[in-house]
Amino acid sequence: MSSVEVRTERPEPTTSLIPTLPGTHYTDPAVFELEQQRIFQRRWFASARSSDLPAAGDFRNVEVGGESVLIVRGRDGALRAFLNVCRHRGARLCVAGSGTVRRNLQCPYHAWTYGLDGSLVAAPNLASMADVDRKEYGLIDVALQEWLGTVWVCLADEPPSFAETVQGAVAARLGGTDVIDGWDIDTLAVGKRITYDVKANWKLIVENFMECYHCATIHPELTEVLPEFAEGYAAQYFVGHGAEFGEEISGFTVDGSAGFGTLSGVDGSHDRRYYAITVNPQVFVNLVPDHVIFHRMYPLAVDRTVVECDWLYPQEVLDSGADLTRSVDLFHRVNLQDFDACERCQPAMSSRAYAAGGVLVPSEHHIGEFRDWVVTAIAD
Ligand code: FES
Ligand SMILES: [Fe+2]
Repeated sequence: MSSVEVRTERPEPTTSLIPTLPGTHYTDPAVFELEQQRIFQRRWFASARSSDLPAAGDFRNVEVGGESVLIVRGRDGALRAFLNVCRHRGARLCVAGSGTVRRNLQCPYHAWTYGLDGSLVAAPNLASMADVDRKEYGLIDVALQEWLGTVWVCLADEPPSFAETVQGAVAARLGGTDVIDGWDIDTLAVGKRITYDVKANWKLIVENFMECYHCATIHPELTEVLPEFAEGYAAQYFVGHGAEFGEEISGFTVDGSAGFGTLSGVDGSHDRRYYAITVNPQVFVNLVPDHVIFHRMYPLAVDRTVVECDWLYPQEVLDSGADLTRSVDLFHRVNLQDFDACERCQPAMSSRAYAAGGVLVPSEHHIGEFRDWVVTAIAD
């Protein structure tokens, strides 16, 4: 791996324009590799929705920090995560993105067989190898936590505090630790999932999500619903602030028509408002009165990121057969508009015009904190 030059100086806060990362940070595979090792292998990573694996034997296979991680629901109902690597000679246990196994996880190569708890339970001729300690040859565990109905995994041997790094990020944005509880996200069901394959570096997507300087230009439907966004200040610019719906707007829908009321736990101060949260490095959450939009990003290459986006509603709304189209369409359009902008920037990151990077205007200055966070993390 080539050595990577990283910038660590903090910007001068009194100037209007402060620097972005240099272009190479979005194009250099060596930087991407460092990020995989020092960010994605060390941080809590939102890898799936718990309800994606409702029954014993259900599995999901996700790429995290360059590793394939297998998440499995056990017979005891608990979710566990393992490296998706057979302890015999390294075959991938599961290549499908998701599925269900009947009883065990069996390697398709020489049939070493693991319980849903990762323990080695059988292998051809194992009985004749009395010296083999089965415990020692179980699947390698990956740390797992569930919160907000989401399965978070961490590849680090000693994961960072979940309370500080994940729950703390949400609390810092919303101005309190319990604000998000009102949405009861773990009880909501997936009404719609759309997966976007974006030809852009993951940091372009995070940075885009953090600012609203672009909202007036590329998000006509969103600025209609949230008129203050036309002024260029994202909800995330302020602690605890939710962008208010326009006077004529009934709900968070593509045409401002009524949504599905207000979730029972969401109090009046949060009604008719939109909150946006970034949990570094790969989660964006939007809270609106009647639903939640939850994005998980999977950085697959320096110039490719898959974004899985769930629209979450109370089960009763889904059971009622309600038409979700106008509700989903608003943020689906926003996503398409945003990802198009990110894909427009990606090829230019390797231009000599961008060798030293670009600049952030004052309404984007909080992106400087993300830039410094990345630089510090990969310089470690
Ligand atoms: S590699 Fe899995 S059983 Fe041989
Ligand atoms: Fe946007």
